[in-house]
Amino acid sequence: MRKKVIAGNWKMNNDISESQNLISKMTSRLNGKQLKCDVIICPPFTSLSEANSLIKNTSIKLGAQNMYFKESGAFTGEISAKMLKSVGCEYVILGHSERRTIYKEQDKLINEKIKAALKAELKPIFCIGETLEEREAGKEKEVLTKQLSGGLDEISLDQMKKIIIAYEPVWAIGTGKTASPQQAEDMHQFIRNYIKDDFSTDVAENLVIQYGGSVKPDNARELLSQRNIDGALVGGACLIADSFISIIESV
Ligand code: PGA
Repeated sequence: MRKKVIAGNWKMNNDISESQNLISKMTSRLNGKQLKCDVIICPPFTSLSEANSLIKNTSIKLGAQNMYFKESGAFTGEISAKMLKSVGCEYVILGHSERRTIYKEQDKLINEKIKAALKAELKPIFCIGETLEEREAGKEKEVLTKQLSGGLDEISLDQMKKIIIAYEPVWAIGTGKTASPQQAEDMHQFIRNYIKDDFSTDVAENLVIQYGGSVKPDNARELLSQRNIDGALVGGACLIADSFISIIESV
């Protein structure tokens, strides 16, 4: 039985005081509750350290939204895996579609980042997903195959056990349009089969595959009840404590 994982991707939102505010609302609402899932928050870099102190005695875990694959050096503006570890991160989102489209990140670079994260003992939340154009052309599975094989190149069986995959159809991110539970389930099953073929049945059966793209309190329950949907990567709705908590509670 896979434990579900709900992660909040704050994107470029919340300065320090806004972050403190959101986390304190979340922790007071979650206080004393027995959670049936893992909860991760991914604030911007500037709030990580503060978030880490605020969630210390809670079950909330910390993740970052990106990193660079080099350990240190002349890479102005970049952040390394070791730096993320030093502020308490356990997870890092890699390959998000906004990184792929706005910052032109390619599979090869994402693969380097995944390897560097694992080496530093950070768990990658590896995002994949097709655009509307690709889906309309019937190429969604071809696109996923390419992203999976590029992103997971040279990843060992043991390393694969530490990776979470987030299926996020690009056309559903921030658009209010969500994949139907059946559409999402179909893609999740495809991903699990790919992992089964490329790694092992055991790794595939234990793999957490999150769905992301306009997950809201009113659609979370149905999405999360699909056999192969093991959690959610939530953008917009995680910025409002009540919505994020309702999504967590729908597990
Ligand atoms: P959204 O974002 O929930 O606002 O669609 C999801 C994501 O980008 O991870």
